Parts: sequence; structure tokens; C-alpha cells
Amino acid sequence: MHYSCQKRIIYCVLAIIVLFILLHPNLNARRTYEFIDKADIPVNLYVKISENFTSSALIQCDYHDVLYDDTSLSISIIDEDFSEGHKIKDGGEYCPTDCKPKFSSAIIVPYRDRAEQLRGFLVYMHMFLQQQNIHYRIYIIEQVDSNPFNRAKLLNIGALTAIRAGYPCLIFHDVDLLPLKPANLYACTKCPRHLSSSINKFRFVLPYLNLYGGAIAMTTEQYKLINGMSNRYYGWGGEDDDLYARLEIAKLKLCRFEPQTSKYHMLPHKTHPKRLRRQHLLKFARTRIHKDGLNSLQYTEVATVLHPLFTHIMVDL
Ligand code: BGC
Repeated sequence: MHYSCQKRIIYCVLAIIVLFILLHPNLNARRTYEFIDKADIPVNLYVKISENFTSSALIQCDYHDVLYDDTSLSISIIDEDFSEGHKIKDGGEYCPTDCKPKFSSAIIVPYRDRAEQLRGFLVYMHMFLQQQNIHYRIYIIEQVDSNPFNRAKLLNIGALTAIRAGYPCLIFHDVDLLPLKPANLYACTKCPRHLSSSINKFRFVLPYLNLYGGAIAMTTEQYKLINGMSNRYYGWGGEDDDLYARLEIAKLKLCRFEPQTSKYHMLPHKTHPKRLRRQHLLKFARTRIHKDGLNSLQYTEVATVLHPLFTHIMVDL
């Protein structure tokens, strides 16, 4: 065969392979990480309800249908208004009325200066969470000072607030992330769980195995064991990698659900400049675990307001 003809065939085959990979990002993702098989999820769930929670329902909620729900939620929900007559209590707390839930989750969202995104997030998340038959409350922790954003410190504040309110499961969640699959149960597993392992921004592929940011779930016991997160990460990036280092020290192995269930849509926003010296901080993550975290957290609570869809905690760091 003529050399130029061979070359053309090779280029064609390569183009077909590239096109195939582009059109099937999930094929790629499925190979990138270990996950809990769907059938094994029930035994891996951490069944616990808030200490002070009571329900007058006679039967226990069932989660089989939630875990096997194959539908996706439409992100167009963010443009809707929340219907009048909903069953959410002031402060953004909800519990199913026709069955006793097995899980109580505090959804903790660090926040500053994204009002429109927050509005869409709240409408979407309440729609999403109410389908799951769980008891939950949404906490928005807002940094009101003008220092660089400190995501980890806001999460520590949210965690302490939720622990005081008796929540056994903490779900840390960025405001720009929307879970697409109702089967992605917002309850804790016995292992710390990375929920958002398949995000559209990364073409639904996990960028690196130790990624533990975006949306994650930990029991209060696990969070206390690692002394929460480091308070020293001002600016974008690194704080979640530091948290992963803490899991390693405490020998807590993280887990995930399958990529298909862990799909998220990231709302567009301005990118932030990366934090200078975050590599330096990360290098010493292991030496700081016992002195930098929940036990050294300092902040001023400016106000706490119970809104119809969320508990709003404003803080000065
Ligand atoms: C940053 C993390 C971030 C990840 C994914 C890493 O370089 O250190 O904080 O979550 O990129 O964007």
C-alpha cells in the first residue's frame, strides 16, 4: 500500500478513537476509581438520626427505590420559584411525614457574594433532597469580612453548628454544584464519601484519585477524629487536599458511588486566583492536624437568621 494512503488510514483510525472517547466520557470515568457496588450500598450506610429528632410516622422509610432511581434531575429547576405550601420549616429543615427517616444530614455550604447562584441552588437542592426521604437542614455559612475566602474555616464553623444541633452526618457542599442523580443519597456512609466524583467541568472524569472536594460526606465522629479542616487556607485551593491528608493520618479510607450516580453539574462562575504558598502549607499538613482545626477555630458570629429555605450564619473570620 502506498505510504501516504497508510498514513491517512492511521489518522482516520486515531480520529475515530478520539471521537469515541469524547462522545463517551463515562467509559473513561468508570475505569478511574473504585466504588461501592450498588447492591452493597445499604450495608455501607451509616444509619443514624439526629439526637433530638422525633417522628410520629408509623413506618420506617425505605431507600431501595431512591438508590435504584435511574432518572436525572433537570438543572432548569434553578430558574423556578419554590412552590407555596411546601413542608420546609424555617431554617431550611425538612423531614418526611409519611415515614420515619433513617438519616439526618446537615448540608453545609460555604458562601460569599453569589446571590443568584445561591437562589438557584436552594430551589434545586430542596427539590432534590425531598425526593430522598431523609431528614435534613441546609446551613449557609457566609464570610462577611473582606479577607480572602476561607472555605475550610467556614466548613468548620458549619460543622460545629450542626454538631451542636445534634446532626450525625455532615455534608459539605459547594454552592455551584448540583447533583444530577436522585440515586446519589445524601446520607453518610461508614467511610468518608466523596460525592461529586463525576463533574461536567471535568468531563465527568475524576481528575485525581485523592480529590476530596466539591461535595463530600463525613460522620460527625470522623470529622472530630481528624480535628476538622485546617483554618489556614485563605484563597482558592489546597484545603481539600489537606483534608485528604488528615484522612490518611487517621487511616480513614474514602469511598465513592459509581460515576453514573455521582454526576454533578457545575454552575459557571469567575475563576479565582490560586492561593500562593498552598503547596508549602500542604507539605506540612500532617504536622498540623492536632493543633490546627476544630480545636483552634476562632471567629465572630455576626448574625444568624432563619430564612424559609436555609439557616444563614454570617461570620467574620
Ligand atoms: C486544588 C484543589 C481543587 C482541585 C480541583 C487542586 O489543584 O488544590 O483544592 O479541589 O484542584 O479543582
